[in-house]
Amino acid sequence: MVSEDLMKGFSWPRKDMISTENLTRAEIDRIFAMADVFRESLKNDKTKLPYLKGKVVVSLFFEPSTRTRTAFEMAAHKLGADVISVASNISSSVKGETLKDTARNIEALMADMIIVRHSSSGAAKYLADRVKIPVINAGDGAHAHPTQALLDAFTMRQKFGGDFRGKKITILGDILFSRVARSNIYLLKTLGASVTLVGPSTLVPKEFEKLGVRICYNLAEAVSDADVVMLLRIQHERQSATHFPSISEYANVFGLGIDRENLLKEGAFIMHPGPINRGVELDTPLADSPRSVILNQVTNGVAVRMAVMNLCMHHTQKNS
Ligand code: CP
Repeated sequence: MVSEDLMKGFSWPRKDMISTENLTRAEIDRIFAMADVFRESLKNDKTKLPYLKGKVVVSLFFEPSTRTRTAFEMAAHKLGADVISVASNISSSVKGETLKDTARNIEALMADMIIVRHSSSGAAKYLADRVKIPVINAGDGAHAHPTQALLDAFTMRQKFGGDFRGKKITILGDILFSRVARSNIYLLKTLGASVTLVGPSTLVPKEFEKLGVRICYNLAEAVSDADVVMLLRIQHERQSATHFPSISEYANVFGLGIDRENLLKEGAFIMHPGPINRGVELDTPLADSPRSVILNQVTNGVAVRMAVMNLCMHHTQKNS
């Protein structure tokens, strides 16, 4: 059982979790420290923890999800909350209800927290500014996916023994349309890691250099000194134009197949937020190899989301 002292003597400054852009190092460390405790508790103790007992969490997903939705709902259950899932295809949004009205009605129903995924960048912030209850962004368009980046960094931290200084992370693939890439860049820079982006020039614009990252268009060069290679899926659903000639040509030039494992440094590990397009950005022998921590990322996602939900909920209790 987690100590009741977990929340004592600490004030969490955020009602919502919208982006990693402005998270401070102290806030990130606080999330990780709490996630460490929850991770141990999930390993050792199958009972529910009491932190959100009596609370109702509404999960509002306007885009498909396997990992994020399940992990948030599992995290809420583990903290003792009740969860109500609103599937977008049967919500009143199909009858033309606005996002703002949907959220304010959920608040009027006395829900205590909203988890939202939406195809529009900015949707989570828009909601958070219009309701008093905490809003957690589960991915908004190409903008942000803060809990994905937090669980990614939490997984790296386990591998690095806690210290990101001098660590090199290469993010490979569809950077332009990736909320995961943006959220990871902000977080990893705050933690002190070096970030390289690689992929076709149409999907890795030079403008990203402004975020303090290295841009590279050569796969071998980009991964040769990386401690971590993070693969990203090509996000066809957000693309209105063709950014490379064909999927097979993308895979030929930028796919990480087993024949390219020799490009990786010894001990380098492979991450992917999922869902994986096997045979496109990553081949099965590597995805399922000892280098892969992809399923560790998924498991860590529950503990990290428990920490984020617990902290944001306690902000509200202190300030409402
Ligand atoms: N990583 C991620 O967001 O996966 P889902 O789309 O399955 O939630």
